[in-house]
Amino acid sequence: MNIIKNVAVAVAASIALSAVSLSAYAQDKGVIGISLPDKTESRWITDGKSMVDALKAKGYSADLQYANYDVPTQVNQVENMLAKGVKALVIAPIDGKTFSDALALAQQKGIKVISYDRLISQTKNVDYYATFDNYGVGVLQGQSIVAAWQKAGSKTPFNVEVFGGSSDDNNAHMVYAGGMSVLKPYIDNGKFVIRSKQVAFEKVATRNWDGATAQSRMDNLLSAFYGNNRLDAVWTPNDAIAIGVISSLKGVGYGSAQQPMPVVTGQDADLQNVKGIIRGDQTTTVFKDTRKLAGITADIVDDALTGKPVPVNDTKSYNNGAKIVPTYLVKPILVDKDNWQPELVTSGYYTQAQLK
Ligand code: BGC
Repeated sequence: MNIIKNVAVAVAASIALSAVSLSAYAQDKGVIGISLPDKTESRWITDGKSMVDALKAKGYSADLQYANYDVPTQVNQVENMLAKGVKALVIAPIDGKTFSDALALAQQKGIKVISYDRLISQTKNVDYYATFDNYGVGVLQGQSIVAAWQKAGSKTPFNVEVFGGSSDDNNAHMVYAGGMSVLKPYIDNGKFVIRSKQVAFEKVATRNWDGATAQSRMDNLLSAFYGNNRLDAVWTPNDAIAIGVISSLKGVGYGSAQQPMPVVTGQDADLQNVKGIIRGDQTTTVFKDTRKLAGITADIVDDALTGKPVPVNDTKSYNNGAKIVPTYLVKPILVDKDNWQPELVTSGYYTQAQLK
């Protein structure tokens, strides 16, 4: 009896010991620096949390920092991470061009650099890029305007206005190119009319994807071009911009039975925008499952640091001005009032209660 008891105690002790050594090992793989642009959009908060969890599951700890949409702050944070001895850097740059010096140092120290969601440009010192198919995001947005026009009978032209993202963010250009690939033929043949004539990217870009900036541009467009004319659709490239545009539209009376909301597109499936889709304020958004992107990024970090083959599925689309960066693209999904439930709730991205 005693022997059995002692054996049981010894086994339990050795299990406990191996648990201790396992968790000690878990801490052993080092710290990964994660630098994200800002906390005002819920997506970046989810990105950060998912990445910390995914890295932890692989035995790393994370130094996660947000840069408050301020370029010098972000560069500083990355430099501090380098000084503290991180093993790898995961960076979603505010301005893709600002990291050449810091990353030259990372290269010298043998630190792996992963560009996250947004492309770091003008430097060879980026090892991998993990992002969504940004061109595909624009295509989905464009298609949702065309689908609404077809649903309205395709007889009379649609009055459409165009918004772009931040010109220092490569994604903004990719999304614009994707959307224009769908919309341009309709603009050229007069099915879609842009009364303001503001359509070139430089004319429609929105610095830092800022909703308030978009709101004031929308106010100006409405008062200058839509006095007696209905606006049928607004191509908004992300959810933050959609929020600004929607409040401007509501300010002049859209959103009633007599004056229904125009089509408004988006990107990110941010919480308040999904609520807006359920209410009928916003037509579509593009869901980018940041849990998947974070998981892939943790795989890339771990494989690169342990010398394993790194997962990439695109080796030609992302030229950063100094090299073509090997990339893993995750597929975006269009979400509207008909599929938000399976895509966002059944998938566990949000709870039903959050969307009340
Ligand atoms: C991201 C979008 C995001 C935007 C503003 C882009 O780089 O791809 O998901 O809405 O930045 O933060």
